[in-house]
Amino acid sequence: MTDLLRVNGGTPLKGEITVRGAKNFVSKAMVAALLGETPSVLRNVPLIRDVDVVADLLRLHAVTVDYDDAAGVLEFDSANVETAHVRDIDAHAGSSRIPILFCGPLLHRLGEAFIPDLGGCHIGDRPIDYHLQILRQFGAVVNKQGMGIHITAPRGLHGTKVELPYPSVGATEQTLLTAVRAQGKTELKNAAIEPEIMDLIAVLQKMGSIISVDTDRVIRIEGVDRLAGYEHTSLPDRIEAASWGSAALSTGGDIYVRGASQPEMMTFLNTFRKVGGAFDIDDDGIRFYHPGGPLNSIVIETDVHPGFMTDWQQPLVVALTQAHGLSIVHETVYENRFGFTDALNGMGAQIQVYRECLGQLQCRFGQRNFYHSAVISGPTTLRAAEIEVPDLRGGFSHLIAALTAEGTSHVSGIELINRGYEHFMRKLAALGADVEMI
Ligand code: EPZ
Repeated sequence: MTDLLRVNGGTPLKGEITVRGAKNFVSKAMVAALLGETPSVLRNVPLIRDVDVVADLLRLHAVTVDYDDAAGVLEFDSANVETAHVRDIDAHAGSSRIPILFCGPLLHRLGEAFIPDLGGCHIGDRPIDYHLQILRQFGAVVNKQGMGIHITAPRGLHGTKVELPYPSVGATEQTLLTAVRAQGKTELKNAAIEPEIMDLIAVLQKMGSIISVDTDRVIRIEGVDRLAGYEHTSLPDRIEAASWGSAALSTGGDIYVRGASQPEMMTFLNTFRKVGGAFDIDDDGIRFYHPGGPLNSIVIETDVHPGFMTDWQQPLVVALTQAHGLSIVHETVYENRFGFTDALNGMGAQIQVYRECLGQLQCRFGQRNFYHSAVISGPTTLRAAEIEVPDLRGGFSHLIAALTAEGTSHVSGIELINRGYEHFMRKLAALGADVEMI
């Protein structure tokens, strides 16, 4: 399939689409199935590339994975899990960040693991130093080898006390997936408590683990000797739901997102309302629409949960180019997440990025030469352009910008959007977008 998309913009997106399971939960629940000595079933699974990548890696380790993509059901059996060949693992180098989470489960099941060099969106350096430090604290030995790392646990894995320098989602998941079968107790301070993390804890509890989350974001895990499989239905993808909400605002449209769930989106909904968007919530989803009249400029600071999610800001920035006045976005989670604004400025937006922290939140990036604050002046008329998609969320923003702009744009690198937005061409068609792969 070519990945050049012709977009005739200027038409409001109107209609209904369905959002299924959360990309940033489903991939981790798939890894958790490795720990189960009996079969597992995961429901509400979206057909996205991240799921395929993790399914392939599981199969390389002799885990049977059956995926009914129409029903959105994954079935796993890891009874016969075995070590994979290094060259097969290396072939997956750069495909995703998820492989680093295979370490704990494979060490518990096999005593060793080969992990390919990681991929994932280029939105900063995205190191794995927290992950490797945590694994060493559990007793693992980490060796750089070929296109990845070789990990062993010569004296088994034992519980430990971890305090994260930053509430990292991945490092929290690394700790959970390793501690549940380690000898003894583990304490994790400054943990991430995103809804996707809480759903992973629910899965691990179903499997037989003992995990508590205290009010001070300290997670305590008591290691157990065996874990069984699980049956679980994923929470919905709140990032995709918010992306379509921003698309409705930016194009002056009206989108019903079936499957969207209010509790995980409260902070986004407050911001959406402050900008001038409107929404109606029912038991099956959320209707996001532009009620008419001007949009309002606002100040946003991204943060860990329950703050405004970093993945929500890129699509919303496109809507802010249509708001009256100066909006400010202080990105405190990633140091380099405004690269997508270059293409928006090329379309007529007026976005200036700054190294300073333009906000009150404690931030790791101030005065370190990272352009992690942005000021958006609006409203501006967006013009059609030739666009190259930079990463998943930035790419969706470019799509929204092309749909907002008058005229015909050509968007290349569309394949990147398949990583996290299921059937997005089918959804665009359902919303009346005038788009065509060429
Ligand atoms: C997860 O990435 C998500 N990805 C990201 O979504 C999301 O933006 C992020 O969490 C924050 O919510 C998946 O779940 C697959 P982090 P993750 O560890 O776990 C630094 C999307 O578009 N850090 O919470 O990799 C890191 O550099 C993606 O769906 C270290 O310094 O994020 C960043 O500044 C984008 N060392 C901060 O912590 C480490 O060892 C937060 O990263 C690990 C992280």
